[in-house]
Amino acid sequence: MLNIAIDAARTAGKFLKQNLGKAMDIQRKGGQEKNLVTEIDKGSEELIIDIIRRHFPGHDILAEESGSKKGKTSDYRWIIDPLDGTTNFTHGFPVFCVSIGLEHKGELQLGVIYDPNFDELFTAEKGRGAYLNGKRITVSSVGSLEASLLVTGFPYNIVENPNHAVEHFVKFLMKAQAVRRMGSAAIDLAYVAAGRYEGFWEVALHPWDMAAGALLVTEAGGTISDFHGNAFSIYEPEVLASNGAVHAEMMEALRI
Ligand code: IPD
Ligand code: CA
Ligand code: CA
Repeated sequence: MLNIAIDAARTAGKFLKQNLGKAMDIQRKGGQEKNLVTEIDKGSEELIIDIIRRHFPGHDILAEESGSKKGKTSDYRWIIDPLDGTTNFTHGFPVFCVSIGLEHKGELQLGVIYDPNFDELFTAEKGRGAYLNGKRITVSSVGSLEASLLVTGFPYNIVENPNHAVEHFVKFLMKAQAVRRMGSAAIDLAYVAAGRYEGFWEVALHPWDMAAGALLVTEAGGTISDFHGNAFSIYEPEVLASNGAVHAEMMEALRI
């Protein structure tokens, strides 16, 4: 299954890269001015689903653009973000990826994130560690917030529902070494797993943004929870992921 996920992620990633900077049909999604979708998101998703369906016709699928499809009494569910970083993509800004996770009986089993711009393939299997281009990765050992490089993202509906996102950003700006905002939650999580960031938080994500990245973080030795330290679920919007060592300090800063 890992090999099929890798094949799907690489195929879709190649398609994304080939289409970067070309004219594309851009539409708004869910009645939100900032939430974009392109024909490239949809084309990428079709490529991924075709490959998964060919090998596992009975499995369930949850994909960002086409929604949920039930297979025949399957315990497996593929969770797909065909283009994480759509806003970047529409501006020709090369920070985006493909994210594919797999649940078995509701538990994350594998995760694959492919960044075609850097040709970086992040993979994780439950109990078997996390890897970048085949080499084992672990979270960083930085132990304090003031020495931490953090990353976050903002929800598309921030105008209607600011949800303390700006206050949190300002707090971390003051307390951490630096804060980044790159525009791809899946890459943010993969980078926490790879020890490039000490921590990541975001207030309103979807299962497809987090499924693969969440497993990468835990398999790389990191910690993932909601803002209060409660058990993480990809089906709940809040996420706080870190190297573990700065988790408590990040939770403290998120208290408003
Ligand atoms: C978005 C990105 C972004 C995050 C947004 C997500 P999309 O996903 O992951 O970093 O801040 O909340 O919706 O729309 O590019 O797949
Ligand atoms: Ca996404
Ligand atoms: Ca997407």
